[in-house]
Amino acid sequence: MAIREIITVPNPLLKKVSETVDNINDEVLAILEDMLETMYAAPGIGLAAIQIGISKRMLVIDISRDEENRDPYFFINPEIIDPTENLSSFEEGCLSVPGVWEEIERPDECTVRFMDVKGVEKSMRCSGMLATVIQHEMDHLNGIVFVDHLSRLKKDRAIKRSIKSRSEDFIEND
Ligand code: NI
Repeated sequence: MAIREIITVPNPLLKKVSETVDNINDEVLAILEDMLETMYAAPGIGLAAIQIGISKRMLVIDISRDEENRDPYFFINPEIIDPTENLSSFEEGCLSVPGVWEEIERPDECTVRFMDVKGVEKSMRCSGMLATVIQHEMDHLNGIVFVDHLSRLKKDRAIKRSIKSRSEDFIEND
């Protein structure tokens, strides 16, 4: 396993629509392991393959935030079905948009259909924070980052803020 570099806005790869995984082979499994290690190291609660520059429809999520009892989920070729009309709003952040947190409204429940690491088709009903995280990560597979849900003005400001926060980190660490 290896920690990979996480790409950040405005990297154009983040706008790319990721490709379906045809074959769950050793390479795919190794990428998933790297994604998990990269997410834990960040630390974060969800990561899409495109965030480490790999344009494949794969996600890792662990909302437990508990280093002693980790509870990772791997999603290959996930699809969201029957989202509720009810919306709920969470303050979201993203490892690819560091330094920015914004309230985003999304359906408060949805079902995700996916393949697990053994290639078995599964489906899972998600609510609460898990529903938000799965929808946020699914967006990445379609070339969307969470600030794309904001107005143009708010989005431009958020991206500038993110870039600025990174240059400040750089100066501090220099
Ligand atoms: Ni994200």
